[in-house]
Amino acid sequence: MLISKLSAAALLLSPVALAAPTAEVSCARCDEVAHGFASLNGGTTGGKGGRIVTVTTHADLVKYAAMEEPLIIRVDGVLTSEPKGFEVPIKSHKTIIGVGKTGAVVGGGFGINNQKNIILRNLEIRDTYIPEDYNGKSKDWDGIQVDTGVNIWIDHCKFARMADGLIDLRKDTDYVTVSNNLLSEHNKAFGIGWTENVISKMTINDNFFNSTNQRGPSADNLKYCHMFNNYHLNITSYGNYARGHTQLLVENSYYENVNDPVVAGPNASIKSNWLKFKDCTGEKHLDVNSKKVFDARKFYEYALKDPYDLPTTIPPFVGPAPDIGI
Ligand SMILES: *[C@@H]1O[C@H](CO)[C@@H](O)[C@H](O)[C@H]1NC(C)=O
Ligand SMILES: *[C@@H]1O[C@H](CO)[C@@H](O)[C@H](O)[C@H]1NC(C)=O
Ligand SMILES: *[C@@H]1O[C@H](CO)[C@@H](O)[C@H](O)[C@H]1NC(C)=O
Repeated sequence: MLISKLSAAALLLSPVALAAPTAEVSCARCDEVAHGFASLNGGTTGGKGGRIVTVTTHADLVKYAAMEEPLIIRVDGVLTSEPKGFEVPIKSHKTIIGVGKTGAVVGGGFGINNQKNIILRNLEIRDTYIPEDYNGKSKDWDGIQVDTGVNIWIDHCKFARMADGLIDLRKDTDYVTVSNNLLSEHNKAFGIGWTENVISKMTINDNFFNSTNQRGPSADNLKYCHMFNNYHLNITSYGNYARGHTQLLVENSYYENVNDPVVAGPNASIKSNWLKFKDCTGEKHLDVNSKKVFDARKFYEYALKDPYDLPTTIPPFVGPAPDIGI
């Protein structure tokens, strides 16, 4: 704390910081870095080491996210997207983090195209949904869309009611961790793929999928897809879907009132470990060519939770929290 105050004071004296009216005094947890597959390939540190700025308007968010320099961008308050559906383009080496529990982008989302080392944390992203278009055919308005992004960490965000996907990770996006998020009240929650190549490596842990229809996630052509400690509730079409040549390792998760909770397409493989099902219907593909599936412990350490605890521990913990973006 002392060190961050001192360095912030030093920043305030520098001409660069004077030029930025939004320079901040401290951001205790803004330097936290990703676990899981996003911790490999040099790690995912976002704007760590760069300036800290605070934005209170959507226009300023757009401006800072497009800068070339590493930045920690604190989102303070509820920012309404203008125009509706706009996906704020993010350049490499950024941490975009909500202040307290109320940092939000409403009516729009984020887009990452051919960039690397980006952290999105502690944000609410919601409401581009078009009521007459449940299938999301008219607008490609996602919460977070990543095309060919590398080293991306999406953590403690809350997504609801977008026109297309809540999270769409496309075109060889690699070294990604998606953790501690709420994905809710939506048709197509979380899509991964849109590629013929089988290279993507992703960790998806401690998320709450609540009242979504499909894609929890739909994981197409992932080299390694590692899911653990996730809680799926009230899912009408399907839960985890390994498609194409995906290898899915799914561990210690809870499925409640889910149709087709775990499904493999014809070329996919699945290894599962202690999954709890309550009031589920349809398919459970728990061992599909499982000897082929990777061992996540060869890549990183992780802590598995007792799946029976997830319905009580996961919902209060996902999404923005008061002590992350301070
Ligand atoms: C799940 O979503 C439904 C519908 O939005 C909501 O009523 C319910 O409270 C949510 N459950 C939990 C545990 O948050
Ligand atoms: C289940 O999800 C649907 C949306 O898919 C929603 O309309 C319904 O209210 C949810 N039910 C409960 C009990 O939360
Ligand atoms: C399975 O993979 C092979 C080889 O890539 C491909 O030719 C075939 O179309 C795939 N089958 C299905 C059902 O996707």
